Amino acid sequence: ILRMTDLDLAGKRVLIRQDLNVPIENGRITSEQRITASIPTLKLALEKGAAVMVTSHLGRPKEGQWSEADSLAPVARRLSELLGVEVPLVRDWVDGVEVRPGQIVLLENCRMNVGEKADDEALARKYAALCDVFVMDAFGTAHRAQASTHGVIRFAPVAAGGPLLMAELDALARALDNPARPLLAIVAGSKVSTKLELLTNLVDKVAQLIVGGGIANPFIAAAGHDVGKSLYEPDLVETAKKIAADAQARGARIPLPVDVVVAPAFAADAPATVKPVDQVGAGDMILDIGPQTAAQYAELIKAAGTVVWNGPVGVFEFDAFARGTETVARAIAESRAFSIAGGGDTLAAVDKYGIADDVGYISTGGGAFLEFLEGKTLPAVAALEARGA
Ligand code: 3PG
Repeated sequence: ILRMTDLDLAGKRVLIRQDLNVPIENGRITSEQRITASIPTLKLALEKGAAVMVTSHLGRPKEGQWSEADSLAPVARRLSELLGVEVPLVRDWVDGVEVRPGQIVLLENCRMNVGEKADDEALARKYAALCDVFVMDAFGTAHRAQASTHGVIRFAPVAAGGPLLMAELDALARALDNPARPLLAIVAGSKVSTKLELLTNLVDKVAQLIVGGGIANPFIAAAGHDVGKSLYEPDLVETAKKIAADAQARGARIPLPVDVVVAPAFAADAPATVKPVDQVGAGDMILDIGPQTAAQYAELIKAAGTVVWNGPVGVFEFDAFARGTETVARAIAESRAFSIAGGGDTLAAVDKYGIADDVGYISTGGGAFLEFLEGKTLPAVAALEARGA
């Protein structure tokens, strides 16, 4: 892949695809990690003397119509503050953009353009015609084959990988391709059905696979225990059994909780009780791992060479069920292992426990992070590779 850092951009028109798809509530950005992660790339392009056009999607708007709720206006304001220069938002831009070297503009939500999601060739060619150099820096959207992430790469005069995209790919390669061993992965979250491919791919690579949250429940059931009223997909018990058998055949361990925190209901003020995992009753919901399990997992994390973390192991939004996730987070922070964390809920936990500086690499990807861990080729990365270095 050609790298933006190796290019002379002086006087060039540079179109940079970022993933500035941040959560916005009532016009307020509630997590700006993706914006701050894009800043070094934008600064570098400006320092190199480029005329910079930034494109991103926001949410999933209807194509062909503008709406304030889907506008990147709040993002433009925040970019202006962080860069210390005015970043105008350009509403209509597909047929041409006025920008001079040393200036930067943000182009309105590219998913409002008809043909964006379908990776329409005519639209991709129009994007390509706006620039001398196209830079793909949106790791978080690299799993989408759309006109601004994929099609444009085929037609731009020059197409390169941006510093953020390349850093993400380098960190993931360091974690998965040739990791310091033992490699430990934590895969947690609510639904096992969304993470089956991930589990199957990781079992091949890891020494230990910690499953947590709703994803642990079919494994607990497969081991013969009752999971009561817990969030749980019964038809996946057989799948969990197969994954556990595959793991065993490969010498990988899937440690299961020895104790859990249960409650009669999913609520912040529900009474929390610690129980051995074999004593979960019909009226219990498992909402966290117990203290003994958390201590065991923390030991495994401390002894690992590499840790890949996706998903909180309990309902950490509720204090009574947060201790397991907090213990795991602190163990990752204290471990000497190279660690990589990704996914929206995971980043919320990283923020909550203030461990961002102690994690080796924090990915800006949600779906893209998962697809990479599943072993899939990301279409935008494949397109850059096809253009050569
Ligand atoms: C994300 O938030 O995972 C990316 O920005 C991609 O968004 P999408 O799922 O709407 O394509």
